[in-house]
Amino acid sequence: MKKSVFIFISGAGSNMEFLIKSMDLDHPGYPKLVVSNNKEAKGLNIASQLNVSAKYIPNESFEKNFLSFAENEEPDLICLAGFMKILSPNFINRYKNKILNIHPSLLPKYKGLRTHERAIESKEKITGCTVHVVNENLDDGPILGQSSVSIEKDDTVSSLTKKVLRKEHILYPKALRRYLEGKTEYFTV
Ligand code: GRF
Repeated sequence: MKKSVFIFISGAGSNMEFLIKSMDLDHPGYPKLVVSNNKEAKGLNIASQLNVSAKYIPNESFEKNFLSFAENEEPDLICLAGFMKILSPNFINRYKNKILNIHPSLLPKYKGLRTHERAIESKEKITGCTVHVVNENLDDGPILGQSSVSIEKDDTVSSLTKKVLRKEHILYPKALRRYLEGKTEYFTV
């Protein structure tokens, strides 16, 4: 039976769009619901256009509200995709090994925000993105896969954001499929 995938977003939802589109007929998962903690998130409209249910849950009551909803709709997996809220340890333990996240750096480097700015400031020659299993610590947890890009002399935060995002769109769908198939060995794309 196909596994239900919930996707949490806060903004543009480009990773969400690639995840949804990747879950075609022979995929082990299907997109059950997109949840946003931001009413204005563009991704909410994109999800609806793709015929996936989309729900806004305000930040203040996010976890409580989601848990009461999920009582009847137990998620097999939750994918954080540009979700800008830190989940509580309680929530993370409730879904132990069932939450994935994508982060725009080669973890364990540059956890947190402003990853591209910090990579440029530190004169890194290479950066990228990581998909990992979520644990109680921010941008931590077992790394499933990574994709790297080179940082050129004329790269800016904006150019690097675009370059890395293109890699994210390849990495995250691959990581999702592999994880649902039970493959947890490290991979690169
Ligand atoms: C991505 O760079 C993701 O890695 C980061 O936030 C961005 C979200 O982009 N956490 P989108 O909403 O998927 O377009």
